[in-house]
Amino acid sequence: MKRILFLLVTALVVVTSSADNGHSAWMGDFLDMTASQVQGYWRANGYDFAVDSSLPSEGYTVKGTSVRGGSDIALLYASYELMRQKCCGKMHDAAASPKFKYRILNHWDNLDGSIERGYAGKSIFWHTGLKRQQWRTRIEEYARLNASVGINGAVLDNVNASPKVLTTEYLDTVKAIADIMRPYGVRVYLAINFASPMALGATSTADPLDSGVKAWWKAKAKEIYALIPDFGGFLVKANSEGQPGPFDYGRTHADGANMLADALHPYGGIVMWRSFVYGSRHKGEDRVMQAVSEFKDLDGKFRDNVILQSKNGPLDFQPREPYAPIFDNMKKTAQWVEFQVTQEYTGQSKHLVYLAPMWKEFFSFVSADSLRGVAGVSNVGNDANWCGHPFSQANWYAFGRLAWDPSLTSKAIAHEWLKMTFEESSNRYFYDSMTSVMERSREMCVDYMMPLGLHHIFKFDHHYGPEPDGFKAEYPIEWCPVYYHKADSLGVGFDRSSKGTGAVGQYREPYRSLYDNLSTCPEQYLLWFHHVAWNYRMKNGKTLWDNLCARYTRGVKAVETTLMTWKLMRSIFVDDCDEDRWNEVDSLLTIQLGNAQEWKDVCLDYFHQFSRMPLPAEGEGTV
Ligand code: GCU
Repeated sequence: MKRILFLLVTALVVVTSSADNGHSAWMGDFLDMTASQVQGYWRANGYDFAVDSSLPSEGYTVKGTSVRGGSDIALLYASYELMRQKCCGKMHDAAASPKFKYRILNHWDNLDGSIERGYAGKSIFWHTGLKRQQWRTRIEEYARLNASVGINGAVLDNVNASPKVLTTEYLDTVKAIADIMRPYGVRVYLAINFASPMALGATSTADPLDSGVKAWWKAKAKEIYALIPDFGGFLVKANSEGQPGPFDYGRTHADGANMLADALHPYGGIVMWRSFVYGSRHKGEDRVMQAVSEFKDLDGKFRDNVILQSKNGPLDFQPREPYAPIFDNMKKTAQWVEFQVTQEYTGQSKHLVYLAPMWKEFFSFVSADSLRGVAGVSNVGNDANWCGHPFSQANWYAFGRLAWDPSLTSKAIAHEWLKMTFEESSNRYFYDSMTSVMERSREMCVDYMMPLGLHHIFKFDHHYGPEPDGFKAEYPIEWCPVYYHKADSLGVGFDRSSKGTGAVGQYREPYRSLYDNLSTCPEQYLLWFHHVAWNYRMKNGKTLWDNLCARYTRGVKAVETTLMTWKLMRSIFVDDCDEDRWNEVDSLLTIQLGNAQEWKDVCLDYFHQFSRMPLPAEGEGTV
């Protein structure tokens, strides 16, 4: 009987599934199944599902074939857990509920369909050029992929927001998207432009204390909730990089955020107010200090439904940064972290760089218990494989898994993703080798781009390759690479110690003292916090210069090893008739190797002008 049921369900799935659109992702055939079909699949395999309201609303238990969940969405999460177990080859009992209530992707999608820092084609939401049904299918699949890892929210537009998103035309689309994603537990949010009422011609000011402005936002919230009763709320980038904000009217961030929070409060909406602000009130101060300077005095002055959203590091999603000290400074304000899933500064869609180790590093400094949620700047676009590089999907996957359970190891997540994505390879050697390749890849990227605490020596604008000599008088100095490495004949690095800008003073102990002292500062942050002499003796007894050369060399060698490892995998893909996928990754790794070599050559040649110490001979320089 079970077998017949199983066949029936499978047939149903095949008949109703979307046309084969070539979109590949970790869910395999489950990607085509609706929420009820996926549950039906497991029922047909003997599982029994029921809501148990004593469980947390998104939590579930699996005991043998009995599945219980706090809500329908929880049962869906449990169905996906079973899918994961099936792909990983071992069914087992489980009990889970998410660590964070809010697990939200931020799409930097513009209404014209382009994506700021997007490397996987155009937006899946706006101006896609797709026929209505294809558009719906794509969004539904996106929602399933999110639900499969527990992501429960999506901000649909760029933080550099267009006021137009709040017009009826666009709100109708937002409603349509919300309706598609609702069965998968993914709520919609919008990034808004702070000056929207004025920009749309409804008011003559955007002053948050103006009664006309307040009334406009209240009416707008009412209109939105009439369309989308479970609308999540607003994300705001204010007085940052040219965006309007409350300072334009002599008001504070709290004035601005609270005005919006009051408008959303009757409906349960939240305001995600970003702390990524610089060059505004504290212009001229060390950029990494400005968020704390700007917000510290406002601690405790925000409404309960305001969340301060801060990037994991104090600068801007670099391959490595120390954690952002704003997490040490705001004691009475709800906070969460913004990770960048899209690889703006880590090789974009060309480099294999698995970011979970970076996010785990953040959680080793900032307790997950102190955060209300996690946001991730999405890497999703309209490319057939969603994220550009076939391995970039792993970052979307890992973001969701860590937002659900930050105690998972990056290694376990990589292994799981590989098994789900490259099902056909079913080869232990492949999974183990590629798991370690993925695990090493972030450190490899740090080594060949900016080792030992170097940061932001990226080319202007596109942030892909190196430009250590970058300086443009017409740009704010905080955008110029030379501002960050400060190389001169004496040494290299940014002195943020108590003798320098004093940025170390924003950290809690023991980090403040640890980072302040050159001899105790972890080498991975050395040039972030100190200007260090070229001939300074490091822990291994060699000079800073030698170590710098060695790190760059090590980075390039690691890419070589990665490429060699991938070449060894070829036969597996050939046997599985999946040679195209192998070729694609092989070409990308070849590009990555060329880029790594370029980073090493350009940076060491540049720094060499100052250090005047010998460059490593070809093939040398590993410590
Ligand atoms: C980076 C990025 C911008 C983005 C900004 C932000 O600076 O390069 O494109 O708008 O971050 O997070 O607001």
